Amino acid sequence: MTQIKACLFDLDGVVVDTAKYHFIAWKELANELGFDFTEADNERLKGVSRVRSLEILLEIGGIDLDEERKEQLAAQKNENYVSYIRKMKPDEILPGVEDFLNQLRKNGILIALGSASKNAPLILKQIGLTHMFDAIIDGNSVSKAKPDPEVFLKGAEALNVEPTDCVVFEDAQAGIEAARNAGMHVIGIGHPDNLKNADFVMPGFEDMNIDKLKFN
Ligand code: G6P
Ligand code: MG
Repeated sequence: MTQIKACLFDLDGVVVDTAKYHFIAWKELANELGFDFTEADNERLKGVSRVRSLEILLEIGGIDLDEERKEQLAAQKNENYVSYIRKMKPDEILPGVEDFLNQLRKNGILIALGSASKNAPLILKQIGLTHMFDAIIDGNSVSKAKPDPEVFLKGAEALNVEPTDCVVFEDAQAGIEAARNAGMHVIGIGHPDNLKNADFVMPGFEDMNIDKLKFN
């Protein structure tokens, strides 16, 4: 039985539901470009980097643009998105997350963030959770997107623990693959139909406790 030494958390969709703000901001951009963008389309962007998200959005609209214009549009979307996340408050932490983080700390299990978002530091500040993390690895410190394991391997390194002693919490398939590629245990957050290859999948943290961190 592995004794887990560290928990690595994805941010968007695991600690907070920022997908709704990403959705509003992408939809406004799509509408401005003259096409619609649905919630189902938005599902395709979960766990996907900002640049890749824009490319998918442009594919949906059947629009081809040069790199300079793409950069402009990604920046415009981000400004809009940031205007929403600046209003986030601690009551947006998903149910059960804070209790679980407290349990981990009390039991000496290390905590890291492993997120693709460049806005992760701002979101953690807004929800008042920055101090809970022993290491923060975000979109500013990685060059390879999930399913590449870079973000989680950097997290384990920052905590000075072996990947096999880590468990990752992820809501996106690419993130689950990234955890597996890092050689870590992984718990999916969401529905098992959408998340393959996790040790187990749970709907959220309400029924989570450290006794469930047992893996062979
Ligand atoms: C997370 C979200 C994605 C988002 C990405 C980059 O992975 O699930 O939807 O595109 O972070 O976020 P950012 O805040 O840097 O645009
Ligand atoms: Mg996520």
